[in-house]
Amino acid sequence: MTASSQSVEPFDLVIFGGTGDLAVRKLLPALFHRFVDGQIPASSRIVGVAREALDDAGYRAQLREALIGICEAGKLDVFLQQVFYRPLDARKDDGWDDFAAFIGAQPEHIRVFYLSTSPELFVDICNRLGQYKLNQGASRVVLEKPIGRDLASANQINDAVGKVFSESQTFRIDHYLGKETVQNLLVLRFGNALFEPLWNSAHIDHVQITVAETLGVGHRGAYYDRAGALRDMVQNHILQLLCMVAMEPPSSLAPDAVRDEKLKVLHSLKAIDDSNAAQLTVRGQYRAGVAEGASVPGYPDELGNSKSNTETFVALKAEIANWRWAGVPFYLRTGKRLPSRVSEIVVTFKPVPHSIFSADAGQLAQNRLVLRLQPDEGVKLWLTIKHPGPGGLRLRHVPLDMSFAEAFGVQQPDAYERLLLDVVRGNPTLFMRRDEVEAAWRWAGPVLAAWSASGEAPRPYTAGSWGPSAAVALIERDGRTWNEDSE
Ligand code: BG6
Repeated sequence: MTASSQSVEPFDLVIFGGTGDLAVRKLLPALFHRFVDGQIPASSRIVGVAREALDDAGYRAQLREALIGICEAGKLDVFLQQVFYRPLDARKDDGWDDFAAFIGAQPEHIRVFYLSTSPELFVDICNRLGQYKLNQGASRVVLEKPIGRDLASANQINDAVGKVFSESQTFRIDHYLGKETVQNLLVLRFGNALFEPLWNSAHIDHVQITVAETLGVGHRGAYYDRAGALRDMVQNHILQLLCMVAMEPPSSLAPDAVRDEKLKVLHSLKAIDDSNAAQLTVRGQYRAGVAEGASVPGYPDELGNSKSNTETFVALKAEIANWRWAGVPFYLRTGKRLPSRVSEIVVTFKPVPHSIFSADAGQLAQNRLVLRLQPDEGVKLWLTIKHPGPGGLRLRHVPLDMSFAEAFGVQQPDAYERLLLDVVRGNPTLFMRRDEVEAAWRWAGPVLAAWSASGEAPRPYTAGSWGPSAAVALIERDGRTWNEDSE
């Protein structure tokens, strides 16, 4: 057994929203992969909870059908023996006595309650767990994003959950923090002498963070239309990535050492509000077009509401007002129905101060460090070299390329695999602390308020394009372009 596949202590993991999309598409497959790797002790139980009237056999059959394509049948059946189901409605009494008896009253046993439901139910569920004393000892609660839809509602949820579970028992998940490249960013920055001296406004020209998806909102329209791209992706995933790029070196990887540094970045973000939102942000909404070779409807048709003002795309220019980053723009963009699925962080260094090469040699390009989160996770460092061979001195821009799959020949684990086991181990380093969520809402709130005060509709863009042309103008106005490798 390798060091990475050490078994964790026995645990019970209860997934509220156990028949939902996230549970079936992400959480159960993640647990299955950890099971195959030998990390899940045989006495551990995974318990799906939802309102549907199912029993263990019915739930297992549902999961089997959903997972069979990605999992090996023999192993899957063994795994499913550790999976159970209890029907429950957070707002009704039925079933809770039975559920509490099933979980049992052993406070020293690790019990993880994963709330993969709408945030409106978080408080009801936590209150029930408290009422049945399931919040004691080694119990933990995992809160899926979004936590609220603004600062006030996030505070309400955090206050109410905080009455039942202490902060150290509360794991606010942001699955982007579990992605391999994000972990690697930490190691790259703080495990090499090369980057840190250059990691500041004297040497870095700008940073881009792109999270592009080809999918539309599909059947998640009811949730998405109330959220939009800023709440769904920027307030959490993208800001967390920005923090990992921009934070000061923490003194160790102790959870609070890392989270303290991220929090300082969030506090240093310059406000975007009524006074500057029109210059610094672009909102878009997709219209009918082509995605992955097929015609797809526009957002209003998909949603069945032609009046929706929800953005499915956002691009913005953020700035961090501190010594390290003053004057370095962070261009952020995310959207649904873009031409390719790509998430990456691009750090562009400043040009060399003086060129000694003649114009015939070709253009000198700026060095870029590209951290690719998906697909094909890896890191590329773009350098200028001489084109090999005779023919005069010609400059070439080439990547030092480290694709993780090629270099290590392994499939990268899904972010949820790492994060779920971190909860079982009780390690909150890669989870958001309450004050981080609040600081992120404090920054996002004025952006949302400015948009709603302007009364402007999001700009339409054709599905399969890179968003409204204004998003290109946002960066080109500053004499820069979006990274072309991703486009
Ligand atoms: C989720 C968002 O948090 O992240 C979704 O709610 C989005 O809208 C998803 O599609 C993207 O995650 P990933 O890991 O597929 O990039």
